[in-house]
Amino acid sequence: MRVARPAFYLSQNLISRTGVVLTTTTGITLVIAFASLLLGYQPNPYVGILLYLILPSIFVLGLILIPIGIYKDFRKQRHLGTLPTAYPRVDFSQSGIRRTVMFVAIMTAINVPIFAIASYRGTVYMESTQFCGQTCHQVMYPEYTAYQRSPHARVACVECHIGPGAPWFVRSKLSGTYQVFAVTFNLYPRPIPTPIHNLRPARETCEQCHWPERFSGDKLVIRTKFADDEKNSLTRSVLLVHIGGRNPDRKLVGIHGRHLGLVAYLAPDKKRQEIPWVSYRNEDGTVTEFASTEAPPKADLLAHGERRTMDCMDCHNRPTHTFDMPEGAVNREMAAGRFSSSLPFIHEVAIDLLKKDYRSRAVAETELPEALRQYYRENYPAVYNAQRAAIEEAAKALWYIYEGNVFPEMNIAWGIYPNNLGHNDFPGCFRCHDGNHKSKGGKEITQDCNACHALLAMDEADPKILHELAGGN
Ligand code: HEC
Ligand code: HEC
Ligand code: HEC
Ligand code: HEC
Ligand code: HEC
Repeated sequence: MRVARPAFYLSQNLISRTGVVLTTTTGITLVIAFASLLLGYQPNPYVGILLYLILPSIFVLGLILIPIGIYKDFRKQRHLGTLPTAYPRVDFSQSGIRRTVMFVAIMTAINVPIFAIASYRGTVYMESTQFCGQTCHQVMYPEYTAYQRSPHARVACVECHIGPGAPWFVRSKLSGTYQVFAVTFNLYPRPIPTPIHNLRPARETCEQCHWPERFSGDKLVIRTKFADDEKNSLTRSVLLVHIGGRNPDRKLVGIHGRHLGLVAYLAPDKKRQEIPWVSYRNEDGTVTEFASTEAPPKADLLAHGERRTMDCMDCHNRPTHTFDMPEGAVNREMAAGRFSSSLPFIHEVAIDLLKKDYRSRAVAETELPEALRQYYRENYPAVYNAQRAAIEEAAKALWYIYEGNVFPEMNIAWGIYPNNLGHNDFPGCFRCHDGNHKSKGGKEITQDCNACHALLAMDEADPKILHELAGGN
């Protein structure tokens, strides 16, 4: 026990003792907390931060303080020349020493598993949707809200943002540490900029669940619109979207088949909304380059720009954080029956009210419904009296739409995050398919409406094709 003597002797200092106290108290707290977790206690996000991040950090700090104290004491005593030539014997026949040793042994036996469990629980916790979406409440709230309403609401944030494997895990933890720092000190940009330039390639995230070569064929899409007239007249467009993939003849066809791995492009702007230069690898392996004739690529861009190979995210950039435009959202919710189209001019009024500027979400929550009530009270008193329930339902729906899309605290207003899938609200497909991207040989990137979808009906009150599909005529 000769080796243990200096440690015993020298640990009688303030720093080491503080270390021992920190470690034992947090250790005991953690044991109790983990025991209650085993019994089914569900911590809320803030308790989670305390339990999985702060307490274990203090615990480790304590462990580090003990040797630091010993070392400092050693240096000080050596400097002063007060180091004993022989350290007092650690005599096991003395009950005091025996108790100390027993204490250290027991504490170590407890500490090791605590440390293991704490680090495991800590990482699991940081991977949870709860941590990503709720703890950083204000920062991630817009993405979390949109996510909960999306088809990926049951897919964890980390499945797309980190994906499997150790290297990306470490990378995300490093950038995550900076993010926690940025949030704590209020240094993050509002809104959070997209695209995320170091987002992991889709091959390793999306393609864990979806594979691009799967043949999706054609998809029937029916879009319902309401007009800005008193009756909110309904029309429908019917499209057969050629999603494609690798078809039964093993050819790559359609929207999925004709881009993935074949198209690369250069974009001068951070948001990739302008695309002046595109290259396409043909079936025979030759490459055709297209340049915009309207806004030709600058020489600097051609020489130094980052050539990005198209992947899922170049079209599906909002697969889960899908923010709407007011027109689209109102049409969709009316079509889904969330509020009645029997109220005069409700389509137009709803869009106008949603587009108004409210100072904060709290203000919008009271002013939006009130403005709607006021509109009917003043312009249609009879409707106001007869259809109170329908008006309240519409008021609720307006708040629901606003709540999912506008976040003044994060500077997120309508249309801040462009959606690249389509071409009606944002340039989307027409960033390249605009009829102005030409090759030297005179080929152009197609803008033929039928290349992407068959337009079976466009803005028709009662499309015949829907009756035919339903089996009538
Ligand atoms: C289905 C995949 C997927 C899931 C699940 C997902 N995200 Fe995203 N997220 C994306 C994509 C794609 C982008 C846009 C990337 C780009 O354009 O570079 C994005 C962007 C973001 C951004 C940047 C700002 C913005 O709106 O573009 C934040 C913040 C974010 N996600 C947070 C979260 C949080 C928090 C969760 C979990 C609640 C989550 N994400 C779940 C795919 C996903
Ligand atoms: C962990 C699995 C998983 C990952 C990772 C994932 N998805 Fe999905 N995705 C799903 C599931 C499950 C559905 C079907 C949801 C449904 O039908 O309600 C879906 C649906 C979709 C849809 C159809 C949406 C619709 O409106 O019907 C698209 C498009 C899509 N995913 C794109 C992506 C993209 C792009 C990524 C990568 C950024 C991605 N997904 C990552 C599981 C995943
Ligand atoms: C060139 C643009 C583009 C690219 C690249 C692209 N998609 Fe799509 N994808 C579309 C369009 C357009 C649709 C049809 C959307 C609609 O009308 O609902 C679609 C539909 C889908 C659907 C729904 C299929 C269905 O049967 O309903 C899934 C899932 C999907 N894409 C996943 C992916 C994944 C994963 C990748 C990357 C491997 C990818 N897409 C790459 C444009 C693209
Ligand atoms: C970065 C540029 C770029 C973007 C963005 C883009 N495409 Fe393309 N697309 C191309 C190029 C290049 C080709 C091959 C040249 C051609 O066939 O016109 C192509 C080919 C196609 C084809 C095959 C055309 C044919 O005649 O067989 C379809 C379908 C298509 N794209 C649909 C879409 C859709 C839908 C979107 C938006 C969701 C989209 N593309 C976005 C560059 C792009
Ligand atoms: C490069 C591919 C591409 C070309 C070319 C194209 N579209 Fe589209 N279009 C799309 C995609 C993708 C969507 C989105 C489908 C969805 O909403 O699911 C769309 C949606 C639409 C819609 C329904 C949108 C809505 O909300 O009402 C209409 C109408 C439409 N296109 C008309 C046209 C017309 C007319 C042309 C020819 C001038 C054309 N498109 C050319 C890809 C294309």
